[in-house]
Parts: sequence; C-alpha cells; structure tokens
Amino acid sequence: MIGLGTMGAGIAEVFARAGIGVVAMDVDATALSRGIGTLDASLSRAVTRGRLTAAEQAQIRGRIRPAAGFSEAAAVDLAVEVVPERMEIKREIFAELDRVCSPDAILATNTSSISVTAIAAASKHPGRVIGMHFFNPAPVMRLVEVVSTVLTTDGVVATVSDLARHIGKTPVHVGDRAGFIANALLLPYLNHALYLMASGYGSREDIDLAATAGIGLPMGPLALLDLIGLDTALSIMEVLHGEFGLPRYNPTPLLRRLSDAGLTGRKAGRGIYDYAGAGKDDHQSGNEDASAAAPKTVTLIGAGDDVEAELASAIATAGINVTRNAAHPSDLVLIAAEAGRPVLPASLAAGRPQQSVGLKVIGKLAEGTLAEVVQTSLSSPGAIAAGTGLAAKLGLVPIHAPDRPGFLVGQLLYAHLADAVRMCQDGYSNPTEIDTAMKLGCGYPRGPFELIDAAGAATVLTGLEAMYEAYGYPEFAPPPLLAEHAAAAIPFSAGPRPGR
Ligand code: CAA
Repeated sequence: MIGLGTMGAGIAEVFARAGIGVVAMDVDATALSRGIGTLDASLSRAVTRGRLTAAEQAQIRGRIRPAAGFSEAAAVDLAVEVVPERMEIKREIFAELDRVCSPDAILATNTSSISVTAIAAASKHPGRVIGMHFFNPAPVMRLVEVVSTVLTTDGVVATVSDLARHIGKTPVHVGDRAGFIANALLLPYLNHALYLMASGYGSREDIDLAATAGIGLPMGPLALLDLIGLDTALSIMEVLHGEFGLPRYNPTPLLRRLSDAGLTGRKAGRGIYDYAGAGKDDHQSGNEDASAAAPKTVTLIGAGDDVEAELASAIATAGINVTRNAAHPSDLVLIAAEAGRPVLPASLAAGRPQQSVGLKVIGKLAEGTLAEVVQTSLSSPGAIAAGTGLAAKLGLVPIHAPDRPGFLVGQLLYAHLADAVRMCQDGYSNPTEIDTAMKLGCGYPRGPFELIDAAGAATVLTGLEAMYEAYGYPEFAPPPLLAEHAAAAIPFSAGPRPGR
C-alpha cells in the first residue's frame, strides 16, 4: 500500500481484515505513523463497538508491516497506489515499482482523477497496470471499480476482480473514462447542489434534507462534499470538465473558493458545515418557522385527482378545516403542487396569491415523508410560515422551494437521473452496473434506474422537459433513451431492447 492517508489506511485495513499481508509505505516516517494511527483508531473503534475481538484486532494489525522504502515491496503480488492526485508523483512511484516488483506483480492505482491509461503508459509494463477504485469510507463501502485500459492484459482484470470479491467487495468492471461510473454521476450532482445553495435557491439544510428525507439517500449532497473533501471534489470536477466539456461539469465557483481557502470539509474541521465544535453544526431543518402554528382553515386547490383527495383527508384528520371555496376567508390557500406545473397560475386564479403556497409531498403522505413548501414570488412570509406549520402538523418534514420547475427535489434528482441514462445511452455502462455502483459505492438504497422505474420514466421525462424549457441548460435536455422508455412504457429493469 503506497500512501496511507484516509483512503490508503482504510484500504490497508480491508486487505488485512481479509487475511492478506500488507506492506505499508508513505512519503516519510511522520506520514506513515499518522496513517498507522488512523488504521489503529479504526480497528479500536471496531473493538469498542463489539465488531472485533481484541485478539482479532491483534491478528489484523500483525498483518500490516510499516515499511521504510520501496525495497521492501520486492516480494508483493499487488501494489496499490493511493497518493495525492499529481501525475509527477505517480510517475515516480510507478517507476520505482517497475524497478523493485517482480514482473508478474500487478500494479493498481486508486486514482479518481488521473487517467489510468496515462499512468499505465508511464510504466515499463503497462499491461499489468489497472485501476482499483475504492469508496470513502473504504472499510464500509462495498464497491470497487476495476478500471482497465486499452493496454491492460486480459488476465489482470479477472485476477483483480476475484481479489476484490475475496476482500468482501463487489467489483464492477469499467473502461478508463473520466470519473468512471460513480464519480461521473455523483460529483456533478453534488456540484449542482452547491450551486443551488450558493445561488440562494435552497438553504444548506433544506438541500441536504431534500436528498435524505426526500430521495432516501444516506447523506445530503453538501454533507457528502465535506466527507469527500472539497479539494478532491474540485479536482474530479476539473477532470470531468476537461473530458466532457459540458457546462454541467463546470465547478461551481464556491467549490473553488472554499477549496482555495483551505475549507476542504471534515478533514479541515470546516467546509460547507463547521465541524470544529462538538459535531456538525446542522439542524434537522433550516426552517425556523417549522414550529409555526398550523392554520385553522385551509382552502385547498388541486387538480381534482387522488393527490388532492389524499391531502384533503390528511388535513381534515389533523383537525384543520378544509374548504375548496377560493372566496372563503381561510388562513391559507394551499395549492396541491405537481411536478411540471407551476403554483403561481393556480394561486392567481384563487384570487389571493399573497396567502397562497404550494405543497408537494414527496413519496407517501402517510409515511411522514418530505414536503416541499413551494413559495411563489407573491407568497407572503405569513403564508410560507403557515404552509410550513401545516406540513409539520401533518407529520411531514417541511423544506422550502421556489416555484420553479422541479422545485427542490426535482432540481437535484432529475438531472442526476438524466446523467445516468446518458451514460447508458453512450454505451459506457448499463442500468444494472450503474445501479450496483451507486448502491454499493455511495450507499444509495435504490440505484438511478430503480428510481426512474419507481417514479415512471414518463414522470422523470416531464420533469426534465419542464426544467429544460425554463432554463435551456443542456443538462436538463431529456436523453432520447429516456423518452423511448417513457413512450413505450418499458422499465429499465426489463433489460436491453432488441437491436441495442
Ligand atoms: N471508517 C470505518 N467505518 C466507518 C466509518 C469510517 N470512516 N464511518 C462509518 N463507519 C462504520 C461505522 O463504524 C458503522 O459500523 P458498525 O455498524 O459496524 O458500527 C457503519 O459504518 C455505519 O456508520 P454510522 O452508523 O456511524 O453512520 P451511518 O449509518 O450514517 O453511515 C456512511 C455512514 C456509511 C458514511 C453512510 O452515511 C453512507 O453510506 N454515506 C455515503 C457515502 C458515500 O457516498 N461515499 C462515496 C463518496 S465518493 C468516493 O469516495 C469516491 C471518490 O473518489 C471521491
């Protein structure tokens, strides 16, 4: 293991836990002992939590041998490079490995932002150079992207995939393209979330809640940026932008500024959130008015569909009077909001736009899920507070969203899903592998294609069409493959169609 930073220490732990001896190296003795300290802390935590016995800890630790220099790598079967993402450092390391390792040893890189092909080409034996891309935290996330290049020898992919399985990971085989599967999908979504925060579209907490309580992801995008490191995120975005050139991959200026300022996230004690105190300075919700009194009487305006009927019944059950009469002097006019349909026209038609907000329930109302309180340009602060109080009274987690296509959840999700469809359309991967990568690499409970199938391709298509029409950004342009699935009503789980 060359490089014992957060990822290197985690990967070394994974190998040692699987019974494999590890020779651990870093740039100097200080870096090496810091890395060993990280590893020891992780193993001790596992013992404290009752996941390992002290004897097992000692055995695992006994398999890890700190090494002073490359000469100690002479007998290894596999070298894994996990050093900073600078080509000149990697070039030096692969030259050393070429010199000391036996000719049949495999040389792997955990790089996420340098071309594996370029690293391989710098080696004397490029056929044995491969990407082995782990995810943070390495002991927990089960994905390993096995990245082959045009130079990789056939057997190497199979050997490394078997090894990944042996250490308890699931390998997904990909070609060498910027971001591989997971980062190419994850990072643009995180970058877009930061843009939404920087532009004032949504608050930090609401954006993270939209992802966790709304989409069911294990972490919000802003908290995840802090975990990955804003500097790392920035370099991945730069590589994606260099490779694909589209505006979607342009790093949000705030990402660069925070990174330049050294506010790189958890590892620096501060990034988008502040970690200097007892814990992350977050709240469950950024809505100070979540405790605002719920209205006593609500005028409910909907499309006369099930969504409206369900909302009406929930409001009534919560002990609030519901009327459909727009002229009634109720405390709040509530528009049952729907994807792809703005709230303002209905609130104008009701004649009391100041007292109106939209409410979009994500998921099943009865399950206490997320509710977007949609504010138009005319909604008064009182109406917004009443809408928020109402959502809380219904047992929902309220967040605020402007009356723009996609509201907040759709803004985050639809372009992300479109990226996944485009990756498939490009022939780089397929729905099964993309879903596996996002579930095992990023902890998604459902992969992008499972999310599309659950919502219906037509719903995602409608959301994207509305966003594309309003903004004109290419990332919102619905991919033809999605339109085809929507038109033919074929779920992605049905597999590839004849002729593909
Ligand atoms: N090291 C070791 N173990 C850790 C850990 C760490 N840093 N963080 C959490 N764990 C372990 C905990 O010890 C716990 O294990 P036990 O059940 O045995 O006690 C388990 O993971 C769950 O942890 P918690 O209960 O504390 O927290 P959680 O349930 O909220 O899960 C999480 C934490 C696993 C990080 C989860 O939030 C998650 O899956 N988040 C998404 C992470 C993600 O997307 N990673 C990919 C980033 S992209 C990348 O890495 C690629 C790149 O090139 C940038």
